[in-house]
Amino acid sequence: NGKINIAIDGPAGAGKSTIARMVAKRLGYVYVDSGAMYRAVTWHMLQLNIEPENAEKVLQEAQNLVIELIPDEQGQKVLANGEDVTADIRSLTVNRIVSRYAQIEGLRVKLASLQRQMALRKGVVMDGRDIGTHVLPDAELKIFMTATVQERARRRYAEMDASEGITLEQLEREIAERDQLDEQREFSPLVCAEDALVLDTTSMSIEQVSDHILTLAHTTL
Ligand code: C5P
Repeated sequence: NGKINIAIDGPAGAGKSTIARMVAKRLGYVYVDSGAMYRAVTWHMLQLNIEPENAEKVLQEAQNLVIELIPDEQGQKVLANGEDVTADIRSLTVNRIVSRYAQIEGLRVKLASLQRQMALRKGVVMDGRDIGTHVLPDAELKIFMTATVQERARRRYAEMDASEGITLEQLEREIAERDQLDEQREFSPLVCAEDALVLDTTSMSIEQVSDHILTLAHTTL
């Protein structure tokens, strides 16, 4: 059908989801936010007081959990067993612990297989940590998007409201911690794929980044 898959990986707050959503829209492709799936699992486990250390329980409970990503005007809606958790999965509580659930190998196997299914017919822009390396190693275009941790923290901070009660410095520390957990985990860690194009967005605007990827997509098509 002449469509390609695009994998966008990189550390937290590099702008992957904003860009992936824009690029998908401009190409008429489907945007898949793989991080939202890890977040939905995390949210669900927190509801049930199942800690990430208890991998066996997490996996057992994950079998009863149906996660759906439904494309909509804003990008996508996230459902956990039918319940709309789109907003809840963005909380600081989820941010702080999601990478610990994401270490669990069995959970990664399960989510990666769902993610692969979503990309079977091509025409998907998927963002995450292990998309180009592990989930879709055959993606026709792979981008590794980075920015300095200071810049990433600034961007996230600007999107938050004061009621969340976190300082820029604290946010920067939390982002760095999450990156470290994601980079150092044993199974499908955050690492740049050999055939990925590295894009440092520190001093690029959203438009510049999305235009650049669109140009790359058109040359790959
Ligand atoms: O992309 P986002 O920041 O929403 O992802 C939340 C967390 O989910 C990441 O910090 C990482 O621990 C996990 N994740 C992952 N693999 C992916 C996507 C997300 O491990 N493909």
